[in-house]
Amino acid sequence: MRTLLLSALLVIMAAAPAAAQGTAAGVPEQLRVTLGAEPNTFVIHWAIAGQPYLSTERPVVEASWTGSPTKSVPAARVGALAAGGSVISQATAVPITFYGATIGPIPAGEAVTYRVGSPERGYSDTRTIRMVPNETQGLRFVAYGDIGVDSTDADGKRKSTATEFPAFEVRDRVIQEKPDLVIIPGDLAYQNSQQGWASFLRFMDPLSSVVPFMPTLGNHEWDSTLGYAQYLNSYVLPGDEKTFLFRAGPVTFIALNSDEICSNHSRASTGSPPHPCDDGAQGKFNSSITDRLVELLKQAQNDTTPWTVVYHHHPAYSHGRHGSDFAVQTYFTPIYEAYGVDLVVTAHDHLYSRSYPIREGRSVINGTNDYTKGMAPLYVVTGGGGRSLYTPPDYDPPEWYAAGGKFHHHVRINVTPTMLTLEAVLASNGTVVDQFTITQRALSEPSPTPEGVPAPPVALALTMMAALALALARRRVHHQY
Ligand SMILES: [Fe+2]
Ligand SMILES: [Fe+2]
Repeated sequence: MRTLLLSALLVIMAAAPAAAQGTAAGVPEQLRVTLGAEPNTFVIHWAIAGQPYLSTERPVVEASWTGSPTKSVPAARVGALAAGGSVISQATAVPITFYGATIGPIPAGEAVTYRVGSPERGYSDTRTIRMVPNETQGLRFVAYGDIGVDSTDADGKRKSTATEFPAFEVRDRVIQEKPDLVIIPGDLAYQNSQQGWASFLRFMDPLSSVVPFMPTLGNHEWDSTLGYAQYLNSYVLPGDEKTFLFRAGPVTFIALNSDEICSNHSRASTGSPPHPCDDGAQGKFNSSITDRLVELLKQAQNDTTPWTVVYHHHPAYSHGRHGSDFAVQTYFTPIYEAYGVDLVVTAHDHLYSRSYPIREGRSVINGTNDYTKGMAPLYVVTGGGGRSLYTPPDYDPPEWYAAGGKFHHHVRINVTPTMLTLEAVLASNGTVVDQFTITQRALSEPSPTPEGVPAPPVALALTMMAALALALARRRVHHQY
């Protein structure tokens, strides 16, 4: 948890180039809202171009919700890009400074109306965002990754010469849906210049300012000169901002930085600071991330939210160009299986790929889209957020492959305390092209089988006992990580 807790805010500073194009200096822009480290809080942050606020000025977040008088929370700068970064040195650079404040606690599900700015320079327009539900309520969240902004101007708007830009279609469809939460499993801006990030943050503002927005790192967030600085300065997230846990509705979410697990994915091999995977031979494994994962999953086991969703960039199972990431599969999936993770959301392959529930590398059921909670983790790749698509391999898919295809899309997930339903939604026309359900069944309820024949309760109970025994055995094994 960052310094922001003390001062009820945070922020960042970053010098940026040419970012003020189309935006009046000093006018709040690039609004984005993340969930704070403390429950039921928001971190609301924004940027101004040009002269940062002076010490005599009073940047604030003004927010109101039912039952609470309008609050005016002082905002501050947090973080700063290291001097000497390649973009900062550009002669055309226009400083951009990030400000933000934490507001809350806010009652679950409550609509918050807010604006940001200062009395001296003016405010943003007013936005409305809703606090995530509590664990007894349903949660509707959206996921998609691999977005990119190549076809946007510096002000984040569609270039007049661009006839087609799917990232806009995906974004606008998600805005229409008004979900409770958006998670982004990596590869956001694809440009690690300050101008590129400014463009991306402006492009995303219409969504990220009205829906809680929780990204995690992809390989394209890495810059050989700046490391992850552009990304880390752009969002204030819980914990160390790379691996963290938060709760929303009946779900515990765990975000990981799979870029830290060495494998065969593309990444910068040189630069300063060195890439996390560069200290030692390729493939060298640092156990700190799996230790942290186990620690977070133990927290999830001990809480009262019934569902656990993990998200990171590189897929453990993917029928795509990059394919299944060997290191992620080797080091993460046994832990997911041992600790009862329900759903793993990833990206990196620019397509949609969805598995059956998988245990020890093989599906535990197939031929149906109706699963029982506890069977095994289910793996979804949602990399159709706007970037150029990949063609799926022309060889036969693995036996664990349930559905997928080459299309821009997002996935929407409706979760109640007893049921999780995922739908893949085409960006072009909103058609649902894949759907599955995981149900929390009582032992006396029938469970689906590959043949569609209800399993006898005794058999199901035995299956669950066997799964539990396996999980406990595997957990002992994992202590060696
Ligand atoms: Fe990507
Ligand atoms: Fe990627």
